[in-house]
This record gives sequence, structure tokens and C-alpha cells, in this order.
Amino acid sequence: GLPEAVRIHEVGARDGLQNEKTTVPTEVKAEFVHRLAAAGLGTIEATSFVHPKWVPQLADAAELMPLLADLTARDPALRLPVLVPNERGLDRALELGVTEVAVFGSATESFARANLNRTVDESLAMFAPVVARAKAAGARVRGYLSMCFGDPWEGPVPVAQVAAAARRLYELGCDELSLGDTIGVATPGHVTALLDELTGSPAGGTGTGTTGSPTNTVPVDRLAVHFHDTYGQALSNTLAALQKGVTVVDASAGGLGGCPYAKSATGNLATEDLVWMLHGLGIRTGVDLDRLSATSVWMAEHLGRPSPSRTVRALTHQ
Ligand code: HMG
Ligand code: MG
Repeated sequence: GLPEAVRIHEVGARDGLQNEKTTVPTEVKAEFVHRLAAAGLGTIEATSFVHPKWVPQLADAAELMPLLADLTARDPALRLPVLVPNERGLDRALELGVTEVAVFGSATESFARANLNRTVDESLAMFAPVVARAKAAGARVRGYLSMCFGDPWEGPVPVAQVAAAARRLYELGCDELSLGDTIGVATPGHVTALLDELTGSPAGGTGTGTTGSPTNTVPVDRLAVHFHDTYGQALSNTLAALQKGVTVVDASAGGLGGCPYAKSATGNLATEDLVWMLHGLGIRTGVDLDRLSATSVWMAEHLGRPSPSRTVRALTHQ
């Protein structure tokens, strides 16, 4: 069956804006996050504390966070996670009072190298003290796993390889693990196969998985899905994940997004498209779709091109 409610992890301000050719002014980013919160989104990934030369678009992270303090003062339940790849990033974030961070690993060696300048083993070694220190400081930790379906250099990624990588990242102490289809090549059957492998329960069965090690599992209530929409499959993939018990879904307002270190990555699943489907299924999100669409139109005007979201276009006659 399907869940009664889904928590949307909004990534437009981070995954979306990190991929824009022009850097969006800090005040505009702050207004974007305020508008997203006003539209009812309860988890809004704000920015990244990465090396400013690697992602210049988010180099203003330390200037942005204080401009969001009023939001969490007003609503302590509002979550504003940020990406941190290493202890340097964690220190910068904790100094500013951040209470939720995300590390970001890869299921493939090629992308670990391209995105983090590390092997998979080296990146896990880099994350271990980040997760431990973040938890000790009382922060919540998300682990992203990229290239869970296909990789631009390596092609399709075997589900057993992904499950093993996911388990290793989870065992560092992550509260939540987000499965990334970084380049948007997944299709629903592939999503089902990966979730069967990861949860150790193939469709229609109980027991352990059939193909991989039964130890490479992660509880389904700790999993999130993160689909880019390159091939128009993100919404179908999301439905497949919901049917397997996932209740946390990543999306970006207006379909902003991509990854500068993975060619052929386009925007994420548009939050509006997701909300349209979920509300149609009677699944609660807490999101005001009209306010959210208006926000995406406002951001699209700022960026100088229309939102690729079909729902935004339909609702706002763009
Ligand atoms: P590196 O060059 O190997 O860094 O980069 P290093 O550890 O050798 O350090 C070199 C210098 O950088 C040092 O300064 C550090 O202090 C400084 P120096 O001593 O030479 O003066 N430095 C930093 N400064 C500020 N903040 C920091 C930081 N770290 C080091 N955090 C590094 C390694 C991980 C830093 C780099 O590769 C990096 O920043 N990568 C980030 C790439 C990124 O942000 N990619 C996009 C996000 S992932 C994504 O989009 C996928 C996702 O959406 C899921 C999906 O779709 O699959 C999440
Ligand atoms: Mg992404």
C-alpha cells in the first residue's frame, strides 16, 4: 500500500542553485528559502559548506545561514540541512548553529573521484569523523549515495554494489540515507530491484534478498529517494519507491538542479509535479501547491528561463 503522508526534502536551494551558470545573489537565495518555508515545506536543504572553488555558486554559505535564522526561531521544527563533505565543512556549519548536515558518498569509484577527489574508501574515511562529531554535537545526519542506478563513466551500476556501498555509509551512523539517481537514468523496475536488495525483502516475499548479501540492508524507514528527471522517469520511479515503503522524497522547486561534476545530470524531480501526484493519491505533504508554484515562477523570472515543471506551467499558464 501507499503511505498516508510523505515528507518532502526540498533541494532546490542547494542541488538547484549549485548548477546555475550565474551565481544567484545571497539575498535572493534567502528569499527563496523563506518562500519555500511559507509554502509549507518542512525540510529545506539550504546550501553546501564545500570548497568554494569546487562549487562557487554556493560559496556564500556562511553569509546565507544567518539570513535564515528568523525562520528556525519562528518554527523550531523547520529543518534546514546543509551539505558538508569533510571536517572543515562541518566546523564551518556548526559555528553557524546548523543542526542537520549531509555527507555525500558515491556507489562508484569514478564519481567519488570526480566529486570528492577521493576513492570510495577514502571518502568513507573522510566522512567517518564528520558523522561522529556531528552526532556528538546533537546534529542530525543524512547520507547521500550518488550513482545508485547508472554512472556516466561506468554505465549501469549493479544493485549488489549499490547495496554494499549504502550499508557502509549507513553504518557510519547516518540517520537517513538518500539514494541518488544523479543522472536520471533509473526506471521503475530498477528502483524496485534496488529497494528489494536493500531491504532484503523481494516483492511478494518476506525473508532475505535473493541476489546479494543479506547483511547489506538498510531499514526502509531510514531511506529516501533522490531522482533527477533527465529521462522523464522521476515521478514513476518515486511511485515505485512509495510502493516499497519509502516515505521521504527529495525534489526541487520548479525542477531546478543538476550536478556540476556529473555531465548529463539535469534538474531534480520538480516538487510541484511530486505534490500534484501525491495529493492526487490522497497522500499528505503539508505543501500549498499554488504558493509553491508562484515561488518557482518568481525564481524562473530571476534566472531568466521558464521552469521545466509541467505542473508549474499548467497551474500558472506559463
Ligand atoms: P580537495 O581539493 O581534495 O581538498 O577537495 P583538500 O582536502 O585537499 O583541501 C584543500 C584545501 O581546501 C585546503 O585549504 C582546505 O582547507 C580547503 P589549504 O590548506 O590548501 O589552504 N577545504 C575547504 N575549504 C572550505 N570548506 C571546505 C573545505 N574542504 C577543504 N569544506 C573536497 C575535497 C571534498 C573539499 C572537494 O572535492 C569538494 O568540495 N567537493 C564538493 C563537490 C560538490 O559539492 N558536489 C556537488 C554536491 S553532490 C551532488 O550534487 C549529488 C547529490 O545531489 C545526490 C545525487 O544527485 O546523486 C547530493
Ligand atoms: Mg542531486
